[in-house]
Amino acid sequence: MIYLDNAATTFPKAPGTLERSVELYRELGVSPGRGNHDLAMRASDAVDEVRTKVAAFFGAPDPARVAFGANATDALNTVLLGLVRPGDHVVTTRLDHNSVLRPLHHLADSGAIIWDAAGFDERGLVSPDAIDAMLRPNTRLVVMTHASNVIGSVQPVAEIARRCAARGVPVVLDAAQSAGQVPIDLAAMGVSALAFTGHKSLYGPSGIGGLVVMPGLEVATTRFGGTGMDSASLAHTPTYPLRLEAGTLNLLGVLGLGLGLDFVVGEGVEAIHAREAALLTRLRDGLALVDGVTVYRADGDLADRVAVLACNVAGVHPQDVGAILDGDFDIAVRVGVHCAPLVHRDLGTIDRGAVRFSLGAFTTEADVDAAIAAMRAIAGI
Ligand SMILES: Cc1ncc(COP(=O)(O)O)c(C=O)c1O
Repeated sequence: MIYLDNAATTFPKAPGTLERSVELYRELGVSPGRGNHDLAMRASDAVDEVRTKVAAFFGAPDPARVAFGANATDALNTVLLGLVRPGDHVVTTRLDHNSVLRPLHHLADSGAIIWDAAGFDERGLVSPDAIDAMLRPNTRLVVMTHASNVIGSVQPVAEIARRCAARGVPVVLDAAQSAGQVPIDLAAMGVSALAFTGHKSLYGPSGIGGLVVMPGLEVATTRFGGTGMDSASLAHTPTYPLRLEAGTLNLLGVLGLGLGLDFVVGEGVEAIHAREAALLTRLRDGLALVDGVTVYRADGDLADRVAVLACNVAGVHPQDVGAILDGDFDIAVRVGVHCAPLVHRDLGTIDRGAVRFSLGAFTTEADVDAAIAAMRAIAGI
């Protein structure tokens, strides 16, 4: 089987990491942060080691400000609900995923906030000027995806954050698609908080992700419960990371994330990115020669993209393309509207969606060539 659905989740994971995480869990699988016995303390230390790795990976100075959660969606809910107040205005982009748009829609629908979304150009880029022009005196934050999960464009976040900082507005970054594929240095980029998910290009398991909060930004607690600390108090622990973590952590997930990060750091983000960008270019160039295939917003140099590409075949419904790729060619892709409805509206694909190919660290040239050949066959039907 050729797996080209890595933007949904990377598969397979790095060799040996799942086995090693299960081994570690077999050794340490107690409740971290709860209990004074040796094993509980070793489990806590293992979790803190992964916090330190995550902070270093994203250029954040304080590992205590890495709060684990279930995934990027969870982290985005934590940061959005923990920052906005009634009467606030929020800016996002039309490239954003439902994990940003739906919390904003919910808050707006209940009358708490209003929000605006900046559009993107032919290259799939949001202009810093457009964001700047949307800022108002009551803009509480800009929340935006770093890389589009539909067209793969990587946004000029540092410049956007520079403009926002001049207006006193923090930028919250959704790094679900970029983390592990694009180097990220929050301090250098001027980003105030970042949501990540473990199971995509960080090569961890599903069910683990988190929020990195930079010094200077304070996120209010919105979920309350046991933290293993201050247990005599009815008030939730106010210090990071427990301020944003309620209940027992996904220890197996944290351990797996740590091993996934080791793989990514060992390979090098730049090296992974360069390999995938070359394969993406090969895919785009191959598909460009197939009559009847339209590729969306992928002209020119793709060196600055993450490895996703959306396309359609004239006269064949994307669901059928996906079914034929799967059934006849054993190629797994995602089809439909990829949880980013505003992108599809702007591409004119909201009704049927698109076929999305997404590459990973284990994708080969032969995989890409097989995908092009399969699309040629489908377009010729
Ligand atoms: C851009 C973007 N943001 C957020 C998410 C949500 O990630 P998760 O489902 O792991 O929470 C995704 C998942 O596809 C995504 O592509």
